[in-house]
Amino acid sequence: MMRRVEPVTSLAGSVRVPGDKSASHRALMLSALAPGESTIEGLSPGLDVMATSGIMIQLGATRRDTTATVVVTGPRGGLRASDSPLRCGNSGTTMRLVSGIVSALAGRHRLEGDPSLSRRPMDRIAIPLRLMGARVSGEGDRVLAPLDIDGSTSLRGIDFAVPTPSAQVKSAILLAGLFAHDQSVVHESLRTRTTTEDMLRRAGAVVQSSDAADGRRITLSPGPLHPQAWTIPTDPSQAAFFCVLGLIHPHADIEIVDVDDAPERTGFIHVLERMCADLVQRPGTSGTTLRARSSSLRSTEIHSREIPSVDEAPILTVAAAAATGVSVFRDMGELRLKESDRFAGALDLARRLGCEAWSEGDDYFIEGLGHAQNFSRFAINAGLDHRTVMSSAVAGTAGQGCDIDGADTVTSSYPTFFEDLAALR
Ligand code: S3P
Repeated sequence: MMRRVEPVTSLAGSVRVPGDKSASHRALMLSALAPGESTIEGLSPGLDVMATSGIMIQLGATRRDTTATVVVTGPRGGLRASDSPLRCGNSGTTMRLVSGIVSALAGRHRLEGDPSLSRRPMDRIAIPLRLMGARVSGEGDRVLAPLDIDGSTSLRGIDFAVPTPSAQVKSAILLAGLFAHDQSVVHESLRTRTTTEDMLRRAGAVVQSSDAADGRRITLSPGPLHPQAWTIPTDPSQAAFFCVLGLIHPHADIEIVDVDDAPERTGFIHVLERMCADLVQRPGTSGTTLRARSSSLRSTEIHSREIPSVDEAPILTVAAAAATGVSVFRDMGELRLKESDRFAGALDLARRLGCEAWSEGDDYFIEGLGHAQNFSRFAINAGLDHRTVMSSAVAGTAGQGCDIDGADTVTSSYPTFFEDLAALR
């Protein structure tokens, strides 16, 4: 679907972004793994999370929706293999975390993804899960989907240093580790989001984390989970789009309410503050409420360590395009392995806006145009990447408009994004 985005003269109001995608996936999974009835409030309405939900049902959980909550019942005898393929759609989190779960379930499991997910490396989970005793196969050295996993009921715990820090890889190991015979230890050289550890602990698992100067070590003992009443915080990575919109638009005053303020997720706020953003934080009912007002942004240097998982790099690229001076994005190689090649995509979007943009190895550089009003009107293909849709829509709204081909892929994480954007006019 092609969507035309027109510039608007002023933006004001308040927005509540959807429930955090990471917490939503985990709430469904941990509820399915805990025998009995759990409730989930504020679940992300995106298709990625729907994919996880569908798979948990295929594996034996039941789901019932009431007006306020989703009720998930984990089967008393535990999950069991499904005869049909597990369809993960566009969702890397679904494929990587479900791989961890089914590695411990007897039988053969097939996991499928859409064309975007089928080009993303699954060797990063296949290697540790094989060491634990599961058989994981996919196409080629990078173990591309579709995946076939032969689960084992006698998994071994492992002591594993994740070579490229990744919350998804850490989580796949911890979820498999719940069913292993002995404890598992995961070392990460960069502290990625703690959603899995925090939620596992709450559901009754024995998980210890210790921070070191150079990362974190997580130890998990196998054991059962217990049903919970989950409340999902809102998604900081989605809040980032409205923050940048408020800052780069010439006449904007936008509030983004109750944003989850986990330190691993809010690095983008510090980056924007360094760019001289008029961004004010105050305590919300839960988390923090952000107020973003029109600002004259200055360039900065951003290292991937500041925004672990680099989900906010595309929208920070739009901020850099509106700033004065050359912004430097360091060590951004992981962007190439997301829903699309976001490294090439960031350069491409900046050039379409009219910027000089170039790269050296895993670094890229954006020479800002000083103001979003200097952006060119542009057309872009979203390439099955929800964050490309939202970044482009923000640039088009603050600048001179744009046409986004494949804009419907926004439904993977934020189905009401365009309605929420329109409500700020
Ligand atoms: C996620 C992990 C991140 C991130 C994704 C969600 C998760 O990737 O890109 O949007 O829920 O675990 P990494 O595995 O690279 O940290």
